[in-house]
Amino acid sequence: MTRVLVTGGCGFIGSNFVRAVLVERPGWEVVNLDKLTYAGRLENLADVAGDRRYRFVKGDICDREAVAEAMAGCTMAVNFAAETHVDRSLLGAAHFIDTDMKGVLVLLEEARRIGLGRFVQISTDEVYGSIAEGSFDESCVLNPRNPYAASKAGGDRLAFAYWATYGVPLVITRASNNYGPYQYPEKLIPLFVTNALRDESLPLYGDGRNVRDWLHVSDHCRAVLFVLERGAAGEVYNIAGGNERENIAITREVLRLLGKPESLIRPVADRVGHDRRYSLAAAKLSDLGWSPLVPFERGLAETVRWYAENEAWWRPIKDHDGEFRRYYEEQYGARLR
Ligand code: NAD
Ligand code: TYD
Repeated sequence: MTRVLVTGGCGFIGSNFVRAVLVERPGWEVVNLDKLTYAGRLENLADVAGDRRYRFVKGDICDREAVAEAMAGCTMAVNFAAETHVDRSLLGAAHFIDTDMKGVLVLLEEARRIGLGRFVQISTDEVYGSIAEGSFDESCVLNPRNPYAASKAGGDRLAFAYWATYGVPLVITRASNNYGPYQYPEKLIPLFVTNALRDESLPLYGDGRNVRDWLHVSDHCRAVLFVLERGAAGEVYNIAGGNERENIAITREVLRLLGKPESLIRPVADRVGHDRRYSLAAAKLSDLGWSPLVPFERGLAETVRWYAENEAWWRPIKDHDGEFRRYYEEQYGARLR
């Protein structure tokens, strides 16, 4: 029996990954270690909570005992657990250093101690920084430019060091911006869709012409499973969506899909140090046989529909979660007044 530890499995990508593994690998067991921060929600996996192949452990990846307990008996691990929002890292970076760097160290130490068979460190395209033209491949120099990206770069290189120094059999993935169901409504697409559904302003930073490459979460999960099973130890793999879009184009498309007016768009003060463009070269993974399947226009339309049909998922976060309201006021209050 294969047993895989998934950390951060109650978050956006982690919950989609846990569900995908339970469906795609009927012989596998999944242990989900999650601290349940504001972004971790048990309801994201309510549909699999009763599955006998699934076990949830509430705990922090910085806690050695919790990690040892969760990793015991596992042959593989995928580390999704992280503080993930750039804007929050600009309000305070301490949690990011704790989870995205120190937490990775605790996981790597335990993997080394028990001789874990395979470890995947989920990094991000943000570790490369911004690129005006062309694309970053895996050999490019890292140039993270915000505290989130810097803390992820620390975790990324620490993982590599545990391969290079101790031979911990691990791979590192750097994916582009994900979108899809169960994304916490602080990130661009779920924030704008849920605001538009309520006829509230869409706070577009700066001139709206920053570019991100969009990857459907189901394609990302397929890629992570692919490298978990077939990636070469010590290697880094970019995972690109191949859908570079300016933020203004995404914003207009969201409004069009919902039949809402463009007058909802509110240009607001820019994010400080806002990376202009992210772009990945992903030939390394496509040469191995993986490529994304979800066309962006279809994926975005399905995603918008999911939030429209699942208000019961996001309304409690936006209306009743004091944490979200406090964050929204701090991040957008002055910008929108
Ligand atoms: P998310 O914020 O939705 O979820 C993060 C999860 O980690 C939550 O369930 C949270 O409770 C958990 N967590 C946080 N700190 C923890 C700790 N100390 N111990 C245990 N659990 C903890 O994040 P996401 O968007 O699903 O991102 C998952 C991973 O993918 C992250 O490593 C992120 O850096 C990476 N990534 C995300 C994107 C994207 O577009 N969302 C793109 C590339 C890479
Ligand atoms: P985000 O979803 O925060 O992802 P990341 O910063 O990790 O790429 O933001 C995506 C893009 O959308 C980024 O260029 C910032 C922009 N953005 C806005 O214009 N307004 C917003 O309210 C948010 C959250 C993001």
